[in-house]
Amino acid sequence: MSKQLHQPWHILGAGAIGCLWAHNMQQWQLPVTLLARTQEEHRQMQVKGIQVTAGKVTHISRPASIFPSMSGGTITNLLICTKTYATLGAIKAWRKRLHPQVNIVLLQNGMGTAQSLQSLLPKANIYCATTTDGAWRKGLWQVVRAGTGSTQIGAFSAHLSPQNPPPPIAQLISLSVGEIDTLALHWHQDIITPMWHKLAVNSVINALTAVYQVKNGDLIYHQQGRLRLEQLCIETEDVMSRCHITPIPQGLLQKALRVLQQTADNQSSMLQDCLAERPTEIDAINGFIIQQGAIMHLPCAAHKQICQDLRQQYPNA
Ligand SMILES: NC(=O)c1ccc[n+]([C@@H]2O[C@H](COP(=O)([O-])OP(=O)(O)OC[C@H]3O[C@@H](n4cnc5c(N)ncnc54)[C@H](OP(=O)(O)O)[C@@H]3O)[C@@H](O)[C@H]2O)c1
Repeated sequence: MSKQLHQPWHILGAGAIGCLWAHNMQQWQLPVTLLARTQEEHRQMQVKGIQVTAGKVTHISRPASIFPSMSGGTITNLLICTKTYATLGAIKAWRKRLHPQVNIVLLQNGMGTAQSLQSLLPKANIYCATTTDGAWRKGLWQVVRAGTGSTQIGAFSAHLSPQNPPPPIAQLISLSVGEIDTLALHWHQDIITPMWHKLAVNSVINALTAVYQVKNGDLIYHQQGRLRLEQLCIETEDVMSRCHITPIPQGLLQKALRVLQQTADNQSSMLQDCLAERPTEIDAINGFIIQQGAIMHLPCAAHKQICQDLRQQYPNA
């Protein structure tokens, strides 16, 4: 593919996933710019660069960065990988720089942020992405790639065609094809389904592991935790069914138990966030299920209880 055709991308949220993408985009020779909060953050990004470790190999790349009051062009392609709770606050600082029909790829766990973003930016072309990649932050702009997965991207905005990606996203997908150790990106014509399926699993596992402070595998044999897991599965499947979401083929409980077995030694990111007294994405996970349930007049008592327990135990959650 000719270099002149390469589309510039901006990235909001230079954390684990944001740095991983920035690094890959640089490897694909795409112009990529990180959005810093402040001039000082921008200065530090330029000095340090970003460091991505995969296996025994560490790569340093130096993407461009800008801060809100710095002069510069319009943002036409934007990848957002802030945590869900930080997204609206973060985007407001850049609102004036966004092209009215900016292409936004929102790569997050949880749901509900895309709807809020669309209300804020009615003409924006919003795409959602869900990933099985894993990465964690070792330090500031230092990221370790923990697992190689794949990323599904699809259209969210009602005014977009779900059939085909627009050129900037098609380009990302084509650049990812056939490369080893790079991101594996795929277009999905019905992105809401895989997003809901991931949300469903997260909604029955994450908060429980945090409340009982157990590794994923231990939840399977936790007497009280297991009962609550089963109740959460019933409620979540009920909400999904009323929202006309394609069911998870083997059923949510079987799927969740399989995930818990496969990740038995892992501490969920929600448990890690709670232990570190950081906020969590629970509003975009269990909170979203409760909100959708309320629209359908479903009480979602187990989801409400787990949210309440989490917040009681971890005030920052
Ligand atoms: N990491 C994974 O393996 C993984 C896998 C699948 C899905 N996800 C999902 O992907 C999303 C991102 O996760 P992550 O692990 O990459 O999170 P993360 O490491 O916490 O990264 C989020 C980044 O956003 C930055 N940020 C927050 N507010 C900002 C603002 N106003 N302006 C600019 N930057 C701002 C944060 O900076 P500060 O830290 O300085 O606040 C942080 O660098 C989440 O929804 C997560 O659930 C992650």
